[in-house]
Amino acid sequence: MTQTKPPTATSPSSSSRPSAAPASNPSPTAQLFDYRQAANPIRHGLTEPIPDQRWGPELHASGPTAVLPLDLSAALGCSGPATSPALSANFIRLLAGESIEASANATSLLFYVLHGEGRCHRQGNGIAPAFRQSWSQGDLFVLPAGATPQLEATAESVLYWVHDAPLLRHLGVSPDQARFEATYYPGSWLRQELALLAADPSSARSNRLSLLLANTALPASRTVTHTLWAMYGMVPAGAVQPPHRHQSVALDLVIDCDPGCATLSGSELNADGTIRNPVRMEWEPGAAFVTPPGQWHSHVNESGRTALLLPIQDAGLHTYLRSLDIRFS
Ligand SMILES: [Fe+2]
Repeated sequence: MTQTKPPTATSPSSSSRPSAAPASNPSPTAQLFDYRQAANPIRHGLTEPIPDQRWGPELHASGPTAVLPLDLSAALGCSGPATSPALSANFIRLLAGESIEASANATSLLFYVLHGEGRCHRQGNGIAPAFRQSWSQGDLFVLPAGATPQLEATAESVLYWVHDAPLLRHLGVSPDQARFEATYYPGSWLRQELALLAADPSSARSNRLSLLLANTALPASRTVTHTLWAMYGMVPAGAVQPPHRHQSVALDLVIDCDPGCATLSGSELNADGTIRNPVRMEWEPGAAFVTPPGQWHSHVNESGRTALLLPIQDAGLHTYLRSLDIRFS
């Protein structure tokens, strides 16, 4: 039977503390908790909840060539940089003619070119072959584990970079194989396909005009990598999307919008299906924000022009674990 009371008078008296190890316990690191004290450790002081957070475009509007992490590791209680428990989102600012290494112990590295142009190259190694690719505004590319990629700008550039190093840091591992091939999604192709989707007669009844980026190496999950999920989506003028929720964390990048666009989020729904007491994340081109797991959320566009959003999530991993639990109001 589990012992739940400290056995000695000098043991901790708080019921939130573990029972003291009896003298006969051979392991000094073994602990026992009353189920009621440890069954849901996602609370302040233990496993920290994931906060709502937003970063404005001023973060990457000026300054030298640098990687600018969207770092919530202090709030998450993990080592950093980390934007969510599994993922790290960053802006990479590059001055014309300069280069930088995008170094991360990760299985998946996703880059989206917010503006500018340049080249990416990485050497081959025993994990992945060499990769070389020119990029310009609107392009997206994903790299598997491998040598450190080098980004070189031919014009002043800003890229959004998301990778899964925080997950690997938690697991205490380094990848020893590539799970997919480096893959490039030209911005011209993404824009054309989204325009075709919007023009399709069936889209008139849809409030989701979005492309999910996928890879032939991952036919079961239909995700951009085996851990990452990426959506290239539009929110038409006047749209109020019905709320939805999922257990993946969204690290959203606003690509383009006019004032009046926002994401509303909250933990509960009203009887009419709207979100109760929502937090409102205002959109700005080049802004990024976190949508915590399990929160009902809805994108709204009160401007007169179509807005574009790129949410990146750890939903490749959640899909594999069958824990995505996406629901619509
Ligand atoms: Fe979502």
